[in-house]
Amino acid sequence: MLRRMVDMVATRRRPSRPSGSNRTYYNAPHLGLDGHMDYRSRIVGFEALYPYLAGQSVLDLGCAEGLILDHLLPAGPASIHGVDNSQHRIEAARRLFTDPRLRFDVADLNDPTCFQSSSFAARYDVVMILGVYQHLLAERRAQMLAEALARCGSTFILRLPRIHADLDAGAVAQHAGFAPKARFERPGGDLQVFARAPG
Ligand SMILES: C[S@@+](CC[C@H](N)C(=O)[O-])C[C@H]1O[C@@H](n2cnc3c(N)ncnc32)[C@H](O)[C@@H]1O
Repeated sequence: MLRRMVDMVATRRRPSRPSGSNRTYYNAPHLGLDGHMDYRSRIVGFEALYPYLAGQSVLDLGCAEGLILDHLLPAGPASIHGVDNSQHRIEAARRLFTDPRLRFDVADLNDPTCFQSSSFAARYDVVMILGVYQHLLAERRAQMLAEALARCGSTFILRLPRIHADLDAGAVAQHAGFAPKARFERPGGDLQVFARAPG
């Protein structure tokens, strides 16, 4: 009994569940999604990213049900690969969005072997992490991002909620050879664009 209670408390303190959430993230009644996050607030301002995505292969880390990725298709990306540790959310994304340029896979970014999975491409032009970095285990975040950016050819796009703006994602990007290129203000956290420095 005591052991079960200790386990329950420890599980509750964990910042992200390795198995991923069984709950829907976005609220989008027209798509049958009844999560807590109004999808319209999430896609505000994303058109600013279109010039960075045309013709590009894109990896999105922590895509939930993929609504942002669907919204980015008019930019004309070559492909977008969304990953999330929630099987529930990835199954919904696959069901909802069937454009052949979109692909969705389950991946736990807290797992140190995550990028060894054959589901990842060796190289992406663009890597995005939008409102996810702060959810990862503190001891894993920087390493995860460095591994993702090692596969990134040209552009890194970051959104941190304002209250987490002090996290080190920008510094990790700069250490990995990316320089700040643009910043688009939006409610819920600015979109920061970094470009790989030549050489
Ligand atoms: C706040 S939501 C952001 C979703 C989307 N990127 C957006 O901006 O609307 C965070 C997402 O990250 C996912 N996530 C949390 N921890 C994760 C992990 N360890 N590995 C992969 N995805 C994770 C959650 O399941 C969730 O869908």
